[in-house]
Amino acid sequence: MMAKRKAFRSAAGAAKPAADSSRLDHASGKSWQARIGGGRDALAEQFVESLSFDQRLARHDVAGSIAHATMLAKMKLISKDELEQIKTGLNKILADIEAGTFRFDICQEDIHMAIEAALIANIGDAGKKLHTGRSRNDQVALDVRLWCLEAIDVLTAKIAELQRSLVSLAREQGSAPMPAYTHLQRAQPITIGHELLAYVEMLQRDKDRLADCRRRTAVSSLGGGAAAGSTLPLDRQYTASLLNLPAITDNSLDSVSDRDFVAELVFCLSLVGVHLSRWAEQWILYSSTEFNFIRIADEYTTGSSMMPQKRNPDMLELTRGKAAGILGSLVSLLTMLKGQPLAYNRDMQEDKRWLFSAYDTAEACLAMAARIVAHTQFNAEVISGRLDEGFLDATVMAEYLVRKGVPFRTAHHVVGRLVSLCETRKLQALRELPLDLMQQQCSVFGADVFEVLGAAKAIHAYQTHGAGGVRQLHLQLAKWDRLLPD
Ligand code: ARG
Repeated sequence: MMAKRKAFRSAAGAAKPAADSSRLDHASGKSWQARIGGGRDALAEQFVESLSFDQRLARHDVAGSIAHATMLAKMKLISKDELEQIKTGLNKILADIEAGTFRFDICQEDIHMAIEAALIANIGDAGKKLHTGRSRNDQVALDVRLWCLEAIDVLTAKIAELQRSLVSLAREQGSAPMPAYTHLQRAQPITIGHELLAYVEMLQRDKDRLADCRRRTAVSSLGGGAAAGSTLPLDRQYTASLLNLPAITDNSLDSVSDRDFVAELVFCLSLVGVHLSRWAEQWILYSSTEFNFIRIADEYTTGSSMMPQKRNPDMLELTRGKAAGILGSLVSLLTMLKGQPLAYNRDMQEDKRWLFSAYDTAEACLAMAARIVAHTQFNAEVISGRLDEGFLDATVMAEYLVRKGVPFRTAHHVVGRLVSLCETRKLQALRELPLDLMQQQCSVFGADVFEVLGAAKAIHAYQTHGAGGVRQLHLQLAKWDRLLPD
């Protein structure tokens, strides 16, 4: 235990022995802990560490540190030579981390300390200057911001990929009719493509929300220090510009305690999860024998260990199930934040668990969804074969009467009576009713009513923008071609 305590176990550290003056000041290996003393408790060390999950910030931490050091050199707080040593040292550490040869020790608590301690062990005094005018509080806030920005870009690309899969399916199989549902009861006929493109709209809003969240995330917190900023002349704007961040925070307390952007991103992901879950639920129903609207390729279904006939839509069910984890992350984050006094508190360390988990889940579900969509067939014939069930053309018939001058409420009533007549006479569709029976309910019915009846016909009759018809489908496809170039 003692030996482990003394040595900083890092491959980077082993490469170059630290100069005497740059040895970690403390047996615990924590250079900043001089005041507290040397007590250690393995349980406490494990409890407090985040190294096991915040290693994902290594690249962002190094980028932030290089920008900070570059600014320190510009402000003459460190020399050019020291800057070069810091840059080379940090890049070497990052290379080791990425190659998997860096030896992490949880006594370093987190990725920020692990990297700084390795730097000091490698380059000595210059390494000790890196933290000038900086605290882990503004450092971690920056690292998480940089991480979130990358995450937003990856997610945006994944969402677009899923949108493209849905659009191609809509283009290839989408002009055939299907029922639209309200209350899960047959409502009105639409094109298959219309339903597919409804998900594309949701996903577009998800991307818009991410873009909006990105704006508030791309702000540099470096310079906020521990809580109140620094008495050193730090050029915060310059550091931000080196990181391609267009803005800096204006209040140091807020800089180090703001995690709104994390909560916002996880909220955006929660809605992605909700949208994917709704889609999954819809397709789970559609793949059932009762609906038989779609056939998902075998690769995306699983068999049963007992029932040989089964093709279970497990990938879709897991999409629905995994979305719960994203929502859970959001609730955890908001709950973690709600009780905290200003400014930084260690509670915030937990944010990364939920952020990373929400991201991983959303990313995996988006990738899976795109794959499933690309390998699904709509059973257009089965759907069409049952299209006359459920009186899907009832609204069309009512609107026919409206066009003949009948007030809509009256038309609605008339068609309602005709539907119930069909039901008592065991007729499948309104068009099976004889004209004179219709005329008994409303004298304006003419033989031309048969031109509009039939669910399949309605999709050619819709007039309004955004309706479920064939014409509107083509307009929507053209829009997505413009908005989603390959
Ligand atoms: N690992 C910590 C976190 O993620 C870094 C900040 C620690 N700051 C402190 N004052 N102890 O939040």
